[in-house]
Amino acid sequence: MGRGVMVGVTVGVAVAACLVAGVVVGKRVKSRRKWKRVMGVLRELEEGCETTVGRLKQVVDAMAVEMHAGLASEGGSKLKMLLTFVDNLPSGSEKGTYYALDLGGTNFRVLRVLLGGQRSSILAKDVERQPIPPHLMSGTSEDLFDFMASSVKEFVEKEGNDSESSVVKKKELGFTFSFPVRQTSVLSGILIKWTKGFAIEEMVEKEVAQYLQEALIRKGLDMRVAVLAYFSLLIYSEQVNDTVGTLALGHYHDEDTVAAVIIGTGSNACYVERTDAIIKCQGLLTTSGGMVVNMEWGNFWSSHLPRTSYDIDLDADSPNPYDMGFEKMISGMYLGDIVRRVILRMSQESDIFGPDSSRLSVPFILRTPLMAAMHEDDSPELTVVAGILREVLEISDVPLKVRKLVVKICDVVTRRAARLAAAGIVGILKKIGRDGSGGITSGRTRSDVKMRRTVVAIEGGLYTNYTMFREYLHEALTEILGEQIAQHVILKETEDGSGIGAAILAASYSSSNSVDNDTDTVQPL
Ligand code: BGC
Repeated sequence: MGRGVMVGVTVGVAVAACLVAGVVVGKRVKSRRKWKRVMGVLRELEEGCETTVGRLKQVVDAMAVEMHAGLASEGGSKLKMLLTFVDNLPSGSEKGTYYALDLGGTNFRVLRVLLGGQRSSILAKDVERQPIPPHLMSGTSEDLFDFMASSVKEFVEKEGNDSESSVVKKKELGFTFSFPVRQTSVLSGILIKWTKGFAIEEMVEKEVAQYLQEALIRKGLDMRVAVLAYFSLLIYSEQVNDTVGTLALGHYHDEDTVAAVIIGTGSNACYVERTDAIIKCQGLLTTSGGMVVNMEWGNFWSSHLPRTSYDIDLDADSPNPYDMGFEKMISGMYLGDIVRRVILRMSQESDIFGPDSSRLSVPFILRTPLMAAMHEDDSPELTVVAGILREVLEISDVPLKVRKLVVKICDVVTRRAARLAAAGIVGILKKIGRDGSGGITSGRTRSDVKMRRTVVAIEGGLYTNYTMFREYLHEALTEILGEQIAQHVILKETEDGSGIGAAILAASYSSSNSVDNDTDTVQPL
């Protein structure tokens, strides 16, 4: 090979090497730029979700003020502050067998509860659970209630063979219907609107118990049949919101319980209010001087709530836009979808999630329990995150740093939700003067106020099953209240208030109960 040729080859190789190096450097620069863009999206999310203690205190004040407004006049606030006509809570002395039907989340349930007559003595319970087929959530009232009545029938027929229960002469039930209902008495109420993805328009503004009653009759479970047959299902039933069931159960176990909160698929709270503070219902008289108010806090709104573009889009795409703003930020139905929207945006800004996955555009495909599993993945390689990305979103082979990014997104979304929920709880405490400040109208300072032990019953899958959520909520509660006051406030997890609580409430309102026991089973609020 001549010298000239050698030089030529060397130059060629050098040029090629330069080109390759150029491409590599170019790729790196490009990928750094992409990563920077993604970090920009993350930063924006973090800023948008910021919940400093100062901001949380503004939310607390806004909640207490809106509670006042909702109690002052009908439509005075986005908080409906619904009367429940529950003016007495269980005392613990309830005795006998009671039933509950529970509609309000992903499942319909029928329960039978045997109460022992002493505080906290639930001797036995049977539960039948049926997942609600999604098409029934937006079909006809008849289909939904027939489905429920069939479950009741099955449950009761199974029990008919059970000699012990067939001797019970009368069966009374609490019906938990966990949607906004304007109650006209403890037995009846009108559906204001649907939430949590249910949409059966014909039922809005109609009497809910009527639908249940008619469906039970269609299934042959009416009173006449009942008297002739081996059981008597008393169609007379208390109709309560799930938060009210939770409060009843909380109070059954612990008489210092003054409020109840549910953070599950949906979110809501109720509490015991003085009747004279319910200004919109002047002259309301109860034996106890108090009444449980169903706040429907899912619809709370305040300009102090930290809202992002993802929340705005989620709301616009939902079946109930401009509605349930607080619920859409804090409850299990929505958190997973907020995370999905952030990942989608990042994947549009860059290719860090690989080639476009059409799954990322499917609403609600990333359910909150999956989000929780990713958030709490403690494996060094984040294998749970990798698995869920692959199986659910069809995103494969993303590097560890991208998997860590997903965990971070879950963290930001959940932390905001939990802290806002904590602010909501303190808002209630402030309204009833249990936050150590003496209430919103008093000028008393924290040091003047003697704190009473204050119990808030709490349940719902997000709180119960999602440890990080629960921890963030507790942390924020202490931050807002301060350690000294926070030690008097106990969040007590109840188990199945919407089922057992409703049955206990049916017991405490049942005439047979007080006759049987010859004791006063209800406790003044
Ligand atoms: C409903 C409430 C219910 C809450 C928790 C909300 O969507 O409006 O009535 O208490 O979910 O189930």
